[in-house]
Parts: sequence; C-alpha cells; structure tokens
Amino acid sequence: MKQLQVGLEERAYPILIKEGLLSEIGQELKLRPIAKRYIIIADDNVAELFGGHVVESLRNADIPVDLLTFPHGEASKNMATVEKLARSLAQLGVDRQDALIALGGGVTGDITGFLAAIYMRGISFVQVPTSLLAQVDSSVGGKTGVDIPEGKNLVGCFYQPKCVFIDTAVLKDLPREELLNGLAEVVKYGVIYDSDFFHFLVANQKSILDLEPTVVEAVVAHCCTIKARVVEADEREADLRRILNYGHTLGHAVEAASNFTIAHGKAISIGMAAVNTISVKKSLLGADKAQRIKDVLQGFGLPTDIPMDLDRGQMKEFLKTDKKSVNGKPFFVLPIQIGKVIITDDVDDVMIEEAFG
Ligand code: GLY
Repeated sequence: MKQLQVGLEERAYPILIKEGLLSEIGQELKLRPIAKRYIIIADDNVAELFGGHVVESLRNADIPVDLLTFPHGEASKNMATVEKLARSLAQLGVDRQDALIALGGGVTGDITGFLAAIYMRGISFVQVPTSLLAQVDSSVGGKTGVDIPEGKNLVGCFYQPKCVFIDTAVLKDLPREELLNGLAEVVKYGVIYDSDFFHFLVANQKSILDLEPTVVEAVVAHCCTIKARVVEADEREADLRRILNYGHTLGHAVEAASNFTIAHGKAISIGMAAVNTISVKKSLLGADKAQRIKDVLQGFGLPTDIPMDLDRGQMKEFLKTDKKSVNGKPFFVLPIQIGKVIITDDVDDVMIEEAFG
C-alpha cells in the first residue's frame, strides 16, 4: 500500500493507494474512524459494479452503512440531485456524527463533497474514486460543486475530504474512453511540474495502457503527490493551483463547441497541444518539445487537433465567457519547458486564432 499525505494543517488527510483496496475500506475505517455510520453515494452504474463490495467491506468491519444512488451522467450534477440526496439523508436520520462516502468518478465526488459541505452545515466525507480522472485529479484537493444551466461547476465550494481511498484494480472495469480522460490529466502533470515523470510516461506508455498494476499504482501515486503539493501551496486557487488548468481553457471551449460530444480528456489533450503552439509562437518553448508532448498524447491514443467542423467563432466566445476569464480575457498556462509552465493572459487574438488551426 502506498500512503501519501495532503498537508493542510487541521484539514490534512491521507491518500491510500492499493490494488484491491475497495474490499479493505471497512478495516481501514476501523483503524481511522471518521464517523459512527457511513452513507455511500454512488451513481446507478457504479453502485451496481462496486457498491456491494464496499457495503460488505464496512459490514464485515461492523460499521453501519447505507447506500444511496442517483442516475449516472453529468446531467445529474445539479441542485435537484443534491436536494434529493439531502432529503434522503434526513429521512435516514443522518447527523453530524455520520459521514458520506463518494464512490465513483468526478461527478459523484463533486456532488457528494458539496452535499457533505452543506448538509447540517457540514459533515465529514471520504473519497473513493473509481475513474482514473478522479483518482489522479478530482478526488484530491477539495473542489466540490454542481452545474447550473448558466455554466458548469458554477455553484460549489472548497471542502476537503477526510481520506481518499484509491483502488487501482477498478480501472480494469473502465471503458477505454474513461481511461483516456484520465490519461490526458496524467500527461498534464508531467508537463506542468515534473520532467522526470514525463519521461517515465514516455518509457512506460505500453505498460500504462495495459494497466500493469505496479506501473499504474506508481503513476496514480505520482500524480496524487504532485496534486497534493500544488494544493498545499494554494488550496483555493489564488495562484499556483491554476497550473492544473493547463490545456483546460482551450479544452473547455472545444468541449462546449462540440456540444460535449468530445469527451473531457480528449478536449484537454487537444487544448494542451493547442496552447503549446502558442508557447512555440511566443518563443517560450522549443518546437521539438511541443512535438514530444504531442507524441506522448498521441501515443496514448488521444487526439491533438481541433476538428475542422468545430465553429472557431463559437470557441472564441466560449473562451471569453469562461468562468476563469477576467474582463473577457482568458488566461493560459503555457509550457516554457517540459516540467515548467507560466500563467499569462498576454496572448493576442491572432495567436489564439492560429492555435485553433
Ligand atoms: N482539477 C483542477 C483542480 O483541482 O484544481
């Protein structure tokens, strides 16, 4: 078992990573009790795949547990689902001595974390991420929230979990598309923070795609370590944490212009390749390095070009209204070498248009 720590003083928490951890969660919670009783929140798909395992694991450890579900998909990530779940918690008599377990991908983690933050003005919660994206990114760092018709993640708060349990064995049950979503974020960490890790990814591409257990565990642990260091330095995204948005500003515009038919990971991969061209144009990054990043993305089966049929004008509008834009000016995370980036809004319209290809 690999154990890491997110060092946030009184909000510090461990991340445990192990193949097969799902069936040991009961024992682990017995060793580090967080609550009297736990309510697992999962979507219908994940509940069917893994809900039984986790319930059984807690029951074997004599820990009272219930399971609540909601329909899978981003469409559930709204206030109506939160209200429905909150009412179910109240009907079950859940109080501040109890805790929630977010069992699932990013949507479940975001909904459950937000629900935990506001139910009875805050109860504890634990993250049990079951997608690669959630394991390497969204389960760590305390971003929680839901979408509203005006935009994604517009309602939410920072609320840290008490513990993150990562079972890398569950990745074998993931559809390939889901794995790709996570791999784009994995490459991101190498480019923004750690060139050695980037080279490790290049050298181990096949083992990663084959989900070789020791390599996958090492990759997940490494990403979580980087995420933890970034969040420790800037929990509320005032500065450094913004580097995690590398490729995301353009990627979100690609996602939105495609009407969300291009999945998040693919859009982020396209976004990373596109901002690299801005870096090269600004003479911040060598063209050879941009090509190496492109090669590793493509090696993982990720796209790197903006599809010709996407409306460039619409993408530009999305960039302006991105919730992280200031006065209609988006900021970009630009690599200056592999393992190091800068954050800037000094990118003119011509360069953005050129990056669209
Ligand atoms: N996923 C980006 C962040 O947690 O800040």
